[in-house]
Amino acid sequence: MSVAQRRINLSAPWIDERDEELVLEVLRSGQLSLGQTGPRFESLLADAVGAPYCAAVSSGTAGLHLCMVLAGVGPGDEVITSPYSFVASANCAIYAGATPVFADVDAGTLNLDPVAVEAAITPSTKAIVAVDIFGYPCELDELRAICDRHGLYLVEDACEALGAVYKGRPLGSHGHPATWAFYPNKQITTGEGGAVTTGSEEEHALLVSLRNQGRLETSSWLQHGRLGFNYRLDDISAALGIGQVERLETILDARRTVADRYTELLADVDVETPVPDDGDHVRSWFVYVVKVPSGVDRDGVMARLAGDGIASAPYIPSIHLQSYMRERYGFSEGMCPVSEDASARTMAIPFHGRLPIEDQERVVEALRSAIR
Ligand SMILES: Cc1ncc(COP(=O)(O)O)c(C=O)c1O
Repeated sequence: MSVAQRRINLSAPWIDERDEELVLEVLRSGQLSLGQTGPRFESLLADAVGAPYCAAVSSGTAGLHLCMVLAGVGPGDEVITSPYSFVASANCAIYAGATPVFADVDAGTLNLDPVAVEAAITPSTKAIVAVDIFGYPCELDELRAICDRHGLYLVEDACEALGAVYKGRPLGSHGHPATWAFYPNKQITTGEGGAVTTGSEEEHALLVSLRNQGRLETSSWLQHGRLGFNYRLDDISAALGIGQVERLETILDARRTVADRYTELLADVDVETPVPDDGDHVRSWFVYVVKVPSGVDRDGVMARLAGDGIASAPYIPSIHLQSYMRERYGFSEGMCPVSEDASARTMAIPFHGRLPIEDQERVVEALRSAIR
C-alpha cells in the first residue's frame, strides 16, 4: 500500500516492553485482582498528580458515579455540568437519581462559563461537575468560589486532562475529588480503567469501600456495610497503568510536540486551533480539535478526509441534544448556544504521541483542500 493510501487512525495507545513485562508478571503471579499491583499504581498516580489519596476504579464513568455518592447527590437534586463533554459527565447525575442541568461554555476554552453556572443554580442544586475538556483546565477557582457561596459540592471530571496544570499546580492536587480515565485513546491507558483522587482521607476510605461492593475495612469477604458496586480495577490493568505512569512525562512531552507541530502546520489553514496555554492554564494534550469556519460543512470535510484514508471525529456533540436527553428531559436546540455552535463546527483529527510528521502533513493538506 502506498503512503498516500495508508489509513491514519484517530488515536493510538503507546505500549512498550516494560508494560508487557509488568502485565506478564501479574499474569504469572496468579493474583489477578485485589493484589499489591493496584495500590502500587494508585501510589504512582497520586504522586504524578500531587494528590494525597487515589482510588483506582474500573472506568472514568464509574469514578464519576462514585463522586456523586461522595457528594450525597440523590433523587430531587440537580447537578450542573457542561453540555460540551462526553456523556458520562452528565450521566453520573442520572445514575444517582438527580437531574443534569447544563450551563453553557466559554467559546474559547470550551469549558464551563462560571457566569452561566451561577445563573443555573436553583434551591435544588447539589453539585457541579466541572470538566477539563480536551485536557484544558477549567476555571477551578471561580467554580470553587461558586460552590463555597452556595454550599455546593465540586467534582472535577479530569478524565481528559492527566498532566494538566492549573495556576501552577497539577490538576488532582487542588483538594476536591477529581476523576481520571484510561481508555486507550487517553494520555495513558489501562485498557479500560479510571481513578478518583482526593485530598480527603475520609472520602478516599468511602471510595475504597464503594468500589468494592460496600465492604468495610473491618468486613470479612461476605459482609457488606453499605450499598456498593463492583468498580474495582483488576491487577492486570493496574500493571499496565504502572508502566504508563512511569513514562507519563515522556508521553506528555511527545503529545505536546505533535500538537505544537499541528498548530504550526495549520497556521495558514482556515480553521481555529485550540486555545493556547496561558499563565493559569497548561493543557495536557488529549485530542487535537479544530473548529471550521461558520458556513463550512464540517461533516462534508470529515467525509473528504475519510475518502483520503484519514480518520476524524465530530468532537464533541452537545450532551443535551443526544436523543435520550431530549426524550427524557425535553431538551432542545437553543439551550446552550455556544456549546451547540462548537459542536457543529469542531472535529478531532488524528492525534497521539507517536504520530509521524509525514502523517501530520498529510492530514493538514487534506484538511486544507477539503476546507477550500
Ligand atoms: C470528559 C470525560 N468524562 C468521562 C469519561 C468516561 O471515561 P470512561 O470511558 O473510562 O468511562 C470520558 C471518557 O472518554 C471523558 O472524556
